[in-house]
Amino acid sequence: MKPVALITTKPGFEPKLKEELEKLPIKKKISWTPFRGILIAYSNNPYEFLNYIKENKDNLKFLLRLIPLELKCQTDIEEIKKNVSLLINEKKEYIKGKSFVVRCNRRGQHNFTSEELEKIIGKYILDNFKNLNLKVNLKDWDFKVNIEILQDKTYISIFNNDFNEFVIKENIERLKKLKRYNERPLNRSERKILELMKIYPDIFENLNCVVDIGSSPGGWVKVLSKKAKIVYAIDPGDLKVNAKNIVHIKKKAEYVDFKKEIDKEIDLITNDTNLYPEESILLTLKFAKYLKKDKYIIHTLKARKYRTIKEDLEKVISILNKHNNIKIYKIINLKANTKNELTIILKKT
Ligand SMILES: C[S@@+](CC[C@H](N)C(=O)[O-])C[C@H]1O[C@@H](n2cnc3c(N)ncnc32)[C@H](O)[C@@H]1O
Repeated sequence: MKPVALITTKPGFEPKLKEELEKLPIKKKISWTPFRGILIAYSNNPYEFLNYIKENKDNLKFLLRLIPLELKCQTDIEEIKKNVSLLINEKKEYIKGKSFVVRCNRRGQHNFTSEELEKIIGKYILDNFKNLNLKVNLKDWDFKVNIEILQDKTYISIFNNDFNEFVIKENIERLKKLKRYNERPLNRSERKILELMKIYPDIFENLNCVVDIGSSPGGWVKVLSKKAKIVYAIDPGDLKVNAKNIVHIKKKAEYVDFKKEIDKEIDLITNDTNLYPEESILLTLKFAKYLKKDKYIIHTLKARKYRTIKEDLEKVISILNKHNNIKIYKIINLKANTKNELTIILKKT
């Protein structure tokens, strides 16, 4: 399967849209993107997918727009030119002598603006496809070269009257009136971090970079992303939350190359992995090297069994004692902890 469409909804309603798309009996996979209100669909063919959605629009209450995708490449101007060129060559019989426009929708940070890219690609097409006798017409075009950028990934399509962005206007009107989807906590884990925030609000103030180890499905990340500029969520599992400032590093924490994948001083480390106590604390300490002085670590100790909790805590403390600059600030039992869990708050000195 390949990416066939970006699908948008009102931010906060992504889980609802994903749920209703997943019910459709067509071969597809629906994934989160790091951007609010945008999901991506993988299937076999963008034309089929678009037609299927058009025919079943009455079953889709949360879909606002569907933007069909034909080619995917890295967000790099030379790569984009190459892929635009491939699409034009593929469709040259249909577009000969016609007028066109280039449009770019960009999400993320880049060293060019959308307008600059539109001009570069427009000029590239005129210069390189003189034989097709194409003309630019910004308003009344016959075909549109559509470029969707999601940070480092770019999706390119050529639209015409039949193959174009599909909008469900009734949903736009209806969702405007709906209050923001009021999420319940994603899971019990989320209640742990919410409880901590009430007891120790200062730990969560002025956060630039947070590293959350063992993030899936994303209860902690969801809460932390509202407090921090950027949250690195490390987990080989999927996240059920998305936001512009969440970077999902989809691997085990032991395989993360800090310098390559994060390379920032950390303001808060959180670890809620379901690993054995010693393994888990060693992972926390791997990242503690990059924690700023006077900043905190929130670490859930998950004892092997209820009756080993004391023994497990002692083992963890003996590992911590080897690190002079990491001090135990508090050990608490949160209401949301299971009977095997303790929450350890550490502070770097
Ligand atoms: C209890 S869940 C975490 C729940 C999460 N805090 C939340 O709020 O949704 C434990 C997670 O730890 C992850 N995990 C286990 N071993 C890991 C490792 N070595 N590196 C990163 N994540 C790991 C698992 O994949 C699992 O998703």
